[in-house]
Amino acid sequence: MRPIQAVTIRSAQRSDLDAITTIALMAYRSGEQWPYRFPYAWKYLDDHWRYSNLRLANFMDNVESGAFVVKVAEMPIDEDRSTMKVVAYSVWQMPGDFAGKSLPKDNFERRDANPARMKAFRDSTTRAKKELFNSRFGDRQLNLVMLATLPEYQRRGAGTMLLQWGIDKADAEGLAITLFAGPSAQHLYSRSGFEVVGNVHTQVEGEEAAIDLPAMAYMPKVLT
Ligand SMILES: CC(C)(COP(=O)(O)OP(=O)(O)OC[C@H]1O[C@@H](n2cnc3c(N)ncnc32)[C@H](O)[C@@H]1OP(=O)(O)O)[C@@H](O)C(=O)NCCC(=O)NCCS
Repeated sequence: MRPIQAVTIRSAQRSDLDAITTIALMAYRSGEQWPYRFPYAWKYLDDHWRYSNLRLANFMDNVESGAFVVKVAEMPIDEDRSTMKVVAYSVWQMPGDFAGKSLPKDNFERRDANPARMKAFRDSTTRAKKELFNSRFGDRQLNLVMLATLPEYQRRGAGTMLLQWGIDKADAEGLAITLFAGPSAQHLYSRSGFEVVGNVHTQVEGEEAAIDLPAMAYMPKVLT
């Protein structure tokens, strides 16, 4: 693994919102589930930006209540390390809100999305959370909602560091960590001690296109 000394993490500020939105759009476009749900993202980039920004703002608005934690990773982008750039972020859903009450609602009028797929994805992940995570861990879990690094800054340790924040918290408080893993992140999660506990299949009836995401869980050190 490459050295991670240059990366620092901190709690996100409201002023980081646009930087975080850019990271989301650039990082998730090469995955599977964003292009599946938002196939017209680059045709309707204004909608894609706007609704992604709104969704991320919703997480930030729920930080104060304790429902979510949003962290950013920064790296120096000049030789003398005087200018820091936000290159990655994570969104965590805190224990105690497993009815999903504070999760942002889907906007079905957005032109960048395929509404049927968005709904199918919401339904399959909600069901999987209940069956694979809540039934097992109840309110003793941290859920990693999002983790993304700007493509040009990937493989420099930012993702590992953001994940480590959650692992340290889980170990300290005896919490499990749960998530649905994107393809580029599976290796990171496996080597950090996560195990696959199931699969989330999303497919709209009558469509051939489908996506499968591994559901993964980390058990805290104190409980293993
Ligand atoms: C997953 C992700 C957040 C990792 O961020 P990162 O800052 O590159 O993380 P690290 O530098 O700590 O790298 C950790 C490991 O992730 C994997 N990884 C990172 N970027 C990758 C890429 N572009 N392709 C394949 N694997 C990648 C590697 O296994 C890497 O370890 P290695 O460099 O020792 O081989 C980043 O790749 C990303 O934004 N992916 C797209 C969004 C996504 O799928 N998020 C996860 C949703 S659950």
